[in-house]
Amino acid sequence: MNFNKVILICCVYGVISGYSLYPMRVFTHEEATFAQAITVENATTNPNPARMPTRPLLQPQQYIELAAFLRDTYSQEKEKWPKPFLDEGVPHEELSLVHEVLPRSADRPPDTKEQRDLGKLLFFDPRLSRSGEMSCATCHNPDLAWADGLTVAVGRHRRLLKRNTPSIMNNAFHSHFFWDGRASSFEQQAEQAITNPDEMNSDPELVTRRLNRVPRYRELFNKAYGSEDIKIKDVLHALAAFQRTLISSNASAFDRFLQGQRDALGDAAVRGLHLFRTTARCMNCHSGPLLTDNKFHDLGLSFFGREREDLGRYKITGNPEDSGKFKTPGLRNVSRTAPYMHNGILLTLDDVLRLYNAGMPTLRPTNEQSNDPLFPKKSHHLRPLGLNQRDLDDLKAFLESLEEPRRRISPGLFPAITDGELADEE
Ligand code: HEC
Ligand code: HEC
Repeated sequence: MNFNKVILICCVYGVISGYSLYPMRVFTHEEATFAQAITVENATTNPNPARMPTRPLLQPQQYIELAAFLRDTYSQEKEKWPKPFLDEGVPHEELSLVHEVLPRSADRPPDTKEQRDLGKLLFFDPRLSRSGEMSCATCHNPDLAWADGLTVAVGRHRRLLKRNTPSIMNNAFHSHFFWDGRASSFEQQAEQAITNPDEMNSDPELVTRRLNRVPRYRELFNKAYGSEDIKIKDVLHALAAFQRTLISSNASAFDRFLQGQRDALGDAAVRGLHLFRTTARCMNCHSGPLLTDNKFHDLGLSFFGREREDLGRYKITGNPEDSGKFKTPGLRNVSRTAPYMHNGILLTLDDVLRLYNAGMPTLRPTNEQSNDPLFPKKSHHLRPLGLNQRDLDDLKAFLESLEEPRRRISPGLFPAITDGELADEE
């Protein structure tokens, strides 16, 4: 074992056991630099640095050795993984496979196959919009990881909506829907999408009237809900039942690594995983199987007092503490759902990571804003990280390892709309 390797292992041991060996012996200059590079004191001990010096780059060989060491470490049971860097009070929810068993509230009977299949037809059926041109799948497109690839969604008459379309994968596990969490069930959420004048601009009465005119739907609703008379609550339930089937398959490179396939992750992704859990501090908010804490945080992106202002959660709760807060999105398949953030302002993962590295934007209040209780307070979990370009590339490789293999998803083949069928109601 050469000297470098001994140092590497000592230093990594320091990182992993939560303290650095650095003060315990005198390093040569080169060793000290290396120790500093893979320990993380600067990101943890100084809570509010104005600027963070960039961590020095390691030698190429050292990156390889670090990855080998981390691969061994993370191939062990989770109990032996290094502790994540979490601020006080943040619970430790380890990254893991998505549960195979769907959460099911006690008061909800399991969905039947007839309900799920019917929901899929409805999800793709533009009869749900007044114009007959827009379906749920217009914006939640299976070929685009159930999002739309746009900065902000395009609504009725091609109006630009305020927010970016999230993927609906794994929503079955969520307790809050929308960026501001304003809906607490799939049913509530779908009703809002259907009735929102800027989106589908329809109403429950119009939707059921149209569906009731289609013999095939009457037959399918009868099979799924035991009545030929189509009711809006069953339409919403069927949409929910379908969306509850959109669950990660545990087949991403990261999932395969978690299931014991040591080589499923490349060196960069293994180092990225460690950064994500430690130095980069991501696990303060992106934790658990879906890489979200299901909470709301202000990242400094609210455009307070400007034309594009969006105060997010505050508009729902009325609590000034919630000003500028948005739901932490899950990160599975995140490499496929650009652009990013509630307003889609960041085009690439590189942009996202660069901004996190800078500690996210800090809004400065103008004189008249300085006493405004609504002036958003950026999350105290964010701070400059001092990561170097290699670190950022490693983090990106980890985020990319959360992408699942693409599967062709056949669209729901809803009963064709005949000419003139919707004309009287548009
Ligand atoms: C015009 C584009 C558009 C259409 C049509 C549309 N959505 Fe959405 N959807 C969005 C946008 C944008 C958001 C986020 C809005 C927000 O947070 O304020 C969203 C949010 C959601 C969410 C919450 C996701 C999350 O992570 O919180 C679900 C679930 C959803 N839509 C399902 C549906 C269903 C079901 C339909 C059809 C009934 C539908 N959507 C129609 C654009 C659309
Ligand atoms: C303070 C909590 C917090 C921390 C720490 C945090 N995030 Fe986030 N993350 C969020 C929230 C909240 C959003 C959405 C913010 C918005 O839209 O205004 C978000 C958005 C994202 C997005 C965009 C996802 C999308 O679908 O638009 C990515 C990617 C991301 N975070 C990755 C990371 C990485 C990598 C780290 C560590 C360097 C990190 N986050 C640290 C809370 C956090």
